[in-house]
Parts: sequence; structure tokens; C-alpha cells
Amino acid sequence: MKKGSTAGIISTGRALPVAKITNHDLEKIVDTNDEWIKTRSGIEERRIITGDETNSELSARASRIALERAGISPAALDMIIVATVTPDQILPSTACIVQNKLGAFNAAAFDLVAGCTGFLYGFDVATRYINSGAAKHILLIGVDTLSPIVDWQDRNTCVLFGDGAGAVVLSAVDEGRGVLASKMFSDGTKANLLYVPAGGSTRPATQQTVSQRGHYIKMNGKEVFKFAVTVMVDSLLEVLSLAGKTAEDLDILAPHQANLRIINFACKRLKLKPEQVLVNIHRYGNMSSAAIPVALDEAVEEGKLQAGQLVGLVSFGAGLTWGAAVTYWQ
Ligand code: UT7
Repeated sequence: MKKGSTAGIISTGRALPVAKITNHDLEKIVDTNDEWIKTRSGIEERRIITGDETNSELSARASRIALERAGISPAALDMIIVATVTPDQILPSTACIVQNKLGAFNAAAFDLVAGCTGFLYGFDVATRYINSGAAKHILLIGVDTLSPIVDWQDRNTCVLFGDGAGAVVLSAVDEGRGVLASKMFSDGTKANLLYVPAGGSTRPATQQTVSQRGHYIKMNGKEVFKFAVTVMVDSLLEVLSLAGKTAEDLDILAPHQANLRIINFACKRLKLKPEQVLVNIHRYGNMSSAAIPVALDEAVEEGKLQAGQLVGLVSFGAGLTWGAAVTYWQ
């Protein structure tokens, strides 16, 4: 890598399923209501895949947009990272399927599993590859199609999640125009707060795992909530300090979109104004790894994200995992 340069996001793209499910639609499926969902989570509607929409298809759509905006051909990519917990299938990786769809045959391609923190884990990996000079152009996709693994009989979870994909291209940019710091964290002692019991090699699919609804997400929402409000702020402050910055220096925050109350709590502690915070949870629910890149892409389109701004990214999710990054916007 050229001296005086650093990794930075040079473009974004997104792809969302067409079908919408509103809170009122959910009232017909489980014992819930619009008022509860809105006040407890901030969610009003979410998108879910139908027909030909798959994880790899949404990923490829979002990626084509990001690549076109970056002016980079698929052949120029050195790496494709797909951050997801909902691959098309167990083997091969969705990243390899996406590589084939894009024709990005010079890229190493792999999936990365870190729950809803997947995008930030991928961001940290991509940044370090570019900073070391081992890669020039990396396509990072945050994507999840959770609707097939959500239990539509469980009101504790089915009202919260949605499907979508966001992609970014990271390349070397001039120092002072890219990533300042990033860090990944995990705590496996909390693995049982958010998990899918069956379908892996320990409990492969059987008639019993299916009848026990073992292939669906199980979550202790209250405990995840308590954990999230602490780590969202603490990890961002730690990464800001690594970057030699404070919360006052931030122009924009792109937080994970799991619950509006978690976002508001973090913003209050960080003393950020509402207009500094990217929020789209009301429209999409929790899209896991896609939440942040979709929010970034929308903010670019809406003119909320502009060159030279200091942007904080922070997320948490199954694992439990969490992570944060601070970057200048290109
Ligand atoms: O990306 C990481 C993924 N996960 C998260 O970030 C989740 C974090 N947690 C949360 O967002 C919140 O904990 C939830 C939105 C999941 C739940 O909100 P809460 O304020 O913690 O509610 P609760 O779990 O304490 O439930 C309160 C009541 C319960 O009834 P009782 O026991 O007080 O009679 C629930 O049974 O609300 C009930 N409830 C519902 N009522 C209507 C739970 N889900 C629903 C529902 N509709 N969908």
C-alpha cells in the first residue's frame, strides 16, 4: 500500500426484498399489537424475502451497485467477505456463490459469522488486510435473510427481525480520509442468549428437531438488551480513544438497528443529537449484519453522509459479539 494511505469505504450499495410485513399483519399471526411493537422496539414494518430473493441474490444486487459506484470491476477485487448468519446453504460459502454471480474470479471469498456484529467484524478484517498491503480492493457484504429461521409462532422474536443486504467497497485512500480505528469483541459465556439449537453438526436435522422447532432463533431479549446498552457505548468510546478522538468529535453515528430504545439510550450517554444518528429500524426491523451498511447507503443517498465527516459504527449480536469502528467518510 502507498505510504500515507489507509483503508476507507469508497462506495456503498443496498438491496431489500420487495415484500413488506407491517405490525398490523403480525397482529393476525401472533398475539401482539402495533402499539407494543412500536413502543418496545421502534419497528413499524420489515421486509422479507419471497420468490427468487435469496441471501446471495440480495448480496449480488447490493454489490453490483457498490462496485459500479466505486468504478471498480469485479475482476479487480482481491477479497469478498460475506458477513451473515443465514447463508444460502451450509456448503459452500455464500461468498463463493456471490463471487460466481459477480464474476469476481481473482478474489478470495469467505463467509464470516459474528451475529449482528458481522459487518463490523468484516470491516475490521478488511481494514487490516488493506492496511497491511495484502489486499487492494475488498467487497464487504453485510446480509441476512432471517425470515426463514424466525419462528413465526414466537412473538418474542418474530416481530423484531427483517431481511436485507448492504455492500461496501473498501480500498486504500489518503490518510485522514479513511478508517482511524476498529476493534472486535466477544464473550462466549453468553452464547445461550441468542442461538439456533439445531441444524449444525451437533444436532443435525431430524424429524424430532423439526417438530421441536429447533431450527428457529431462540432469544433471551431482556438479557441481550441489558448487555447491549453497556457495550454499545463502552466499545465505541474505547475505539474513539484508540483513534485519539472523543464522542464530541463524531459527526454521525451508524449504530446497529436492534431496538430504538437501545439506540436512544446510547445516544443520550454519548450526548449525540437525533440528527447525528442514522435510524431505519422503523422500516426494516433488525436486519442483523445488513443493518449498518443499509443505513450508510441510505444516508449517502439522502445527503446525510458527506466527505470529511467523522463516522462512528457500533454493533452487538449473537455470540455474544460486539464491535466498533471510527472512520472518516470519503
Ligand atoms: O441484534 C441483537 C438481537 N436482539 C436484540 O437486540 C434484542 C434486545 N432486546 C430487546 O430489544 C427487548 O428486550 C425486546 C423488544 C425483545 C423485548 O422488550 P422488553 O421491554 O424487554 O419486553 P419483555 O421481554 O420484558 O416483555 C414484556 C412483556 C411480557 O409480558 P409479561 O410477562 O410482562 O406479561 C412479554 O410476554 O411483553 C410481552 N411480549 C409481547 N407482547 C406483545 C413479548 N413480546 C411481545 C409481543 N407483543 N411481540
